[in-house]
Amino acid sequence: MQKKPVSLALMSVPHIVGKNALGQAAVYFSGYSRIFVLVDENTEKLCLPVFLDILSNVSITAVIKIKSGELHKNIQSASFIWQQLTRLHAERNALLVNLGGGVITDIGGFAAATFKRGIDFVNIPTTLLGQVDAAIGSKTGIDFEGYKNQVGLFADPKAVIIDPVFLDTLDRKQFRSGFAEMLKYALIMDIALWEMMDNRPFDAMAPDLGDMVSRCVADKISIVEKDRQETGLRKLLNFGHTVGHALETFFLNSGTPVTHGEAVAAGMICATMISSHRQGLDCNSPEIVFEMIDRNFARLNFAERDIPEIMKLMAQDKKAKAGELRFTLLTKRGNAVPDVVVPEAKVRESLLFYLRNQ
Ligand code: GLY
Repeated sequence: MQKKPVSLALMSVPHIVGKNALGQAAVYFSGYSRIFVLVDENTEKLCLPVFLDILSNVSITAVIKIKSGELHKNIQSASFIWQQLTRLHAERNALLVNLGGGVITDIGGFAAATFKRGIDFVNIPTTLLGQVDAAIGSKTGIDFEGYKNQVGLFADPKAVIIDPVFLDTLDRKQFRSGFAEMLKYALIMDIALWEMMDNRPFDAMAPDLGDMVSRCVADKISIVEKDRQETGLRKLLNFGHTVGHALETFFLNSGTPVTHGEAVAAGMICATMISSHRQGLDCNSPEIVFEMIDRNFARLNFAERDIPEIMKLMAQDKKAKAGELRFTLLTKRGNAVPDVVVPEAKVRESLLFYLRNQ
């Protein structure tokens, strides 16, 4: 990570990124009648002590704890947060600090934005995935009836604090999950980031991780500031996610959850395969992309007989419109086009390709 944190703005929301970002965050906690910190059992143990130590001058009213994992990003957990805020007399002038990964920032943002028609919240992402993607861009929400992010709203945090101090708390699986999103930025828009990855396995990238995280944050901000509501350009960020979300839901519903990144990595293989057929991706590229992904992610364990169920889940995705499946596809490494209609048969073929070419 660079020596000093940098401050980037998305609309008017400050994003403080880098070493000691948390040390500079106290300013975003002043002026509130009550301050609540939302955690799960992991961030309570591993991140809350760090937060309380660095921000020892900030007076916290209470810690609200929900169960970790996508399985708990649901209306019951949201309702529990609203109950706690009510019980602890949170007024309109209260602040909710979301200290955790993508589940915490998604559900915490949702609970805050809807409680008493909206109280302020600050995102402090503690996972690589949260730092490069989930905590940025004002998407909040919960899963519902087996579908990811089915209920939610766009709501701006007051600030996003991205400090590498929390990355030391992650296991390899969580780290890799974030890396899939970093690969996504490289492939859709940032060939210089791809070059930084330099064909290395992820573990060998550690010395450059700080710079790479800052690049991803800047990449995401540059897209969201042009299209916050995802009417066009922001759909670029869905590369790998049409198939990825369906796979993530499939495995979640099967009782064997995979990480978001593992599902997106699989989705990027399918989307790259489709790209090579439809958008004139230069013919050396697919193999280079597959090699990079396979070097870092094991193939997911589903079977040909599961494809109809995965296709059904895909049809329910928010990216599907009027029954058509829509994909972000690559034109080459470092460039992509959003919202391309892809026939179902081609998507099925890409899943078969994924299973048969390992
Ligand atoms: N994670 C994709 C987006 O924020 O649009």
